[in-house]
Amino acid sequence: MPSRKIIIDTDPGVDDAMAIFFALRSPELDVIGLTTIFGNVETELATTNALRLLEIAERIDIPVAHGAERPLVGPFKGSVPFVHGDDGQGNVHLPLPTNQRIHTTAVQFIIDQIMAAPGEITLVPIGPLTNIAQALRREPRIATHVKEVVLMGGNAFCPGNASPAAEANILNDPEAADTVFGAPWPVTMVGLDVTHKVNMTPEHLARYSQINNPMAQHIARIVPFYRQYFETDFSGMRGIYVHDSSAIAYLIDPTLFRVERWPLRVETRGISRGKTWPAVSNRETSAHFVPWHNRPLVNVCVEVDSARLTALELSRMA
Ligand code: RIB
Ligand code: CA
Repeated sequence: MPSRKIIIDTDPGVDDAMAIFFALRSPELDVIGLTTIFGNVETELATTNALRLLEIAERIDIPVAHGAERPLVGPFKGSVPFVHGDDGQGNVHLPLPTNQRIHTTAVQFIIDQIMAAPGEITLVPIGPLTNIAQALRREPRIATHVKEVVLMGGNAFCPGNASPAAEANILNDPEAADTVFGAPWPVTMVGLDVTHKVNMTPEHLARYSQINNPMAQHIARIVPFYRQYFETDFSGMRGIYVHDSSAIAYLIDPTLFRVERWPLRVETRGISRGKTWPAVSNRETSAHFVPWHNRPLVNVCVEVDSARLTALELSRMA
């Protein structure tokens, strides 16, 4: 079977690096570009890190397009050095990359690729959804020309991680997320409902240092800082939750997940800003559910085979 063409929209980010390498080492996937976004780091550093990661992977043939620098509404609230390090890569401070970003913006790159190959391109956003929403606004036909959107973000039936209500990628641009979940295209949400059930233990993580390739060695260097965040912030936790790589795993083997289909809205105001709300009732047509009227059904991942997922990712890196 020919491999599936994907564009990864990313804010690297330790777990973004793991996801990008996982995708690059999976024959089912053909990464045709990386587009960058603020989130874990500012967009400028996200672009530098994307270039650095492709250099480590010896894949500088893959284009990197620089993305939006602020959300659709209001300023970017700031990066999270306590999670990913000042450099977004666990404070290992890599040298500057020698390869260059392309001149096309992320939004235009996404539009050009999708419109040039109708039905072939899958978008894989693993950061805030600003580029994706802007691309939809500029060229609404991408909704019918894309193959699929598989994103990491959101929390349908569980608490958030960036606030009690919201997951980080969605909270960084709730208006963009609401646009993406409302567009007439097939969207799968790989959110905290499943990623908080996938645990890479210290024993799993130790295997990266035993694998003799530059990508695994890079992960072995950057993951200790990230792990420390989880073990400090989540009482009793050992190791890390697997966020962005879960979206890659879904692309390779969707049978790892159980999916439910719900219309989704994103709260844009107040203390619940960024909460992804499924219309959990069959009363969508009642007056109480007007905000969900005519919203498309989104595939929401609700269960996952954690052991099989972590084994898949580790096997690909070896
Ligand atoms: O909530 C997890 C998400 O936020 C991941 O994409 C991680 O990289 C951070 O951006
Ligand atoms: Ca990310």
